[in-house]
Amino acid sequence: MIAINSMNTFQAIETAVEKQQQHGETVFPYAFVGGDATASLPGAISWVNEQREELLSLTNRHGAVLLRDFPVTDANDFDAVVSALGLTNFPYEQSLSNAVRINRTERVFSANEAPPEVQIFFHHEMAQTPLYPRWIFFSCEVAAERGGATPLCRSDVLYERLLADRPAFANACEETGLMYTNVMPDFDDANSGMGRSWRSTLGVDCREAAEQRLAELNYAWEWQNDGCLKATTPPLPAVADASGGRKVFFNQLIAAFCGWKDDRNDPSKSIRHGDGTPLDTEAVLAATEMAEELSFDLEWQVGDVALIDNTIAMHARRPFQGRRKVVASLAEMQRQVFPAKC
Ligand code: FE2
Repeated sequence: MIAINSMNTFQAIETAVEKQQQHGETVFPYAFVGGDATASLPGAISWVNEQREELLSLTNRHGAVLLRDFPVTDANDFDAVVSALGLTNFPYEQSLSNAVRINRTERVFSANEAPPEVQIFFHHEMAQTPLYPRWIFFSCEVAAERGGATPLCRSDVLYERLLADRPAFANACEETGLMYTNVMPDFDDANSGMGRSWRSTLGVDCREAAEQRLAELNYAWEWQNDGCLKATTPPLPAVADASGGRKVFFNQLIAAFCGWKDDRNDPSKSIRHGDGTPLDTEAVLAATEMAEELSFDLEWQVGDVALIDNTIAMHARRPFQGRRKVVASLAEMQRQVFPAKC
């Protein structure tokens, strides 16, 4: 076979980043630094396309890959880089995410429109719904003046620690799964980290269609007097098997328990075990602390692109000051169900 020379002059090289973690034979995050100041976007796109299998394999193995100093400055550039990975887009409108987001291109949207002071706690993207993306990608258009990092956490390492420290809680999570309850507004509320309206979330325009969709999803629901919709998921997995024999704490437990708080939602009522029993508050706080200790805070720079395997790593958002524009893209929709007990 003849090797084809693509004439691509763009070369990114493996690099170490400050506070990079080591877990066994893996690092977190894995990182590449891009070309010099003359590097062009077409060159970077070709490089990503040529390296796509290796990049996704590294992302799976290490949990996240940071591409730093890439010639990516806006949502269109980021769209082109993500497209070069050759994955199927998971459009925001098809998701059951509770965050308000604004599409910038077909496959790129704002990460979360919640106000700067709102902290978003660790979670696997959309693990609180039956549909979730295998991959999540971020890029920074404008870095915040202060704060605004995207913390990342290796979920397999977190689960190992939780199992060692709180075995009863870890096992209860695995054996019963988790059920999530949230109250969705009648219309989008951008002041909340979970302000997406029920119409937008469910992709419907009337109550009858909403009820049909909820029934298909096996959710329970209750209409509120003010037009809001309270919905409870069926039991969903809280611990999942990931590649390489790894078990991951695949859920939104920390985010729901610590952060699902707005005019409509009370975090203490947002999550229970799949059999309806309440969570052990102390164990949840211990899990939250462990995740925080394991956090790698990605301090954004313009030209950063982060590739995250959503089945291996959790992400979050620190509060910030000033303008911050981080855009996101999802790929490869997966479905999850909690196995019924015989
Ligand atoms: Fe997220």
